[in-house]
Amino acid sequence: MSYNFDQIIDRHNTFSNKWDQTEKLFGDKDALPMWIADMDFPAPPEVIQALRERIDHGIYGYTLKPDSYFQALIDWVERRQGWTIQKEWITSSPGIVTALSILVSTLTEPGDKVLIQTPVYPPFFQVVKRNKRELVTNELQLENGRYTIDFAQLEQQFKAGVKMMLLCSPHNPVGRVWTKAELERLGALCVQYGVIVVSDEIHADLLFSGHVHQPFAPLSEALLQQTVTCYAPSKTFNVAGLKSSFVIIANDALRAKYDEMLYNLNLESESFFGVSAVEAAFRHGESWLISLMEYVEENLQLLLDTFAKRIPQIEVIQPEGTYLVWLDCRKLGLDSSELHAFMCKKAKVGLNQGTAFGTDGAGFLRMNIACPRSILVDGLDRIERAVNEAFPQK
Ligand SMILES: Cc1ncc(COP(=O)(O)O)c(C=O)c1O
Repeated sequence: MSYNFDQIIDRHNTFSNKWDQTEKLFGDKDALPMWIADMDFPAPPEVIQALRERIDHGIYGYTLKPDSYFQALIDWVERRQGWTIQKEWITSSPGIVTALSILVSTLTEPGDKVLIQTPVYPPFFQVVKRNKRELVTNELQLENGRYTIDFAQLEQQFKAGVKMMLLCSPHNPVGRVWTKAELERLGALCVQYGVIVVSDEIHADLLFSGHVHQPFAPLSEALLQQTVTCYAPSKTFNVAGLKSSFVIIANDALRAKYDEMLYNLNLESESFFGVSAVEAAFRHGESWLISLMEYVEENLQLLLDTFAKRIPQIEVIQPEGTYLVWLDCRKLGLDSSELHAFMCKKAKVGLNQGTAFGTDGAGFLRMNIACPRSILVDGLDRIERAVNEAFPQK
């Protein structure tokens, strides 16, 4: 089956977080939004069909999760990631950020140290701070255009008593798909120092050629017992608004603590639309996903060529996964707010400001390339014009 990812679907006036607050966020209603992590593509046709059937039924009451729903996830993770999960390990959350916050609040105590690897997805900071835990930041190291883990610093931090680590794998925004060797080295330290790992693997299915996602938990029996995996169809199939996510916890005691809070808040029930859409996505969405990633990879190639040939003042950190691109704009010599203002006002493109991902994001921007090619070309043209006018190539 072929899919038309070139088709432009107008998202204005659909209550879209990305498209309906352009003026408010970027100060110009004509700025092109290329920021928040959802895609400008429709979900797989099988997902839309499953939703249509639910709509047509007309009664939108309380909803159960059938066995087939869990089995669809189990089969998908086994097939795509080579990890066999048991049904009893699977619990849920409306969204992954909700799960992260519940995990921090139930598996650590106030004042405990929780480690994150910066620059990173902004809610990682917030769930630690809002739960009154001590934030420990392990800065990723940028060398030759690629980020790596500073294991020496990490070990010192673990030694000083870290209780939990929030791992972003694949990593947003730096685009790393951590290798098995890196994860094994990290895992050995987590076991040695008894650190609980919350592995946010929401981007696990969004991989560019040559990169393989290694789930963290099954690396060893010890890690399986001290890891919580957060996983969801929301990025993979562009269904974030359905609010259906999974939390996989093999350790009974950890899962009981998580579930106690989940049920206390009455967050365990599935959304009416989520249940069929998620099952349809995992059962039937694979060929769509393969085509999607081919298309996004062509977008990435176009972007890489464009920056290299026409906008060399900005360096692209080449992502190995996700559809988010981390742009190193430090050579422009602008501070963070000047850089953001320049992109909004001069280029008229709405990007994420690097400092939202931590102080080590200063001078960077994040760009979402999961859009029809013509939108990407428009965005790149706008950036090229503005940058070359203000910062002519020498
Ligand atoms: C690493 C990571 N975790 C979680 C989320 C969002 O999760 P949710 O919308 O399910 O709360 C995102 C969205 O961009 C993300 O990049």
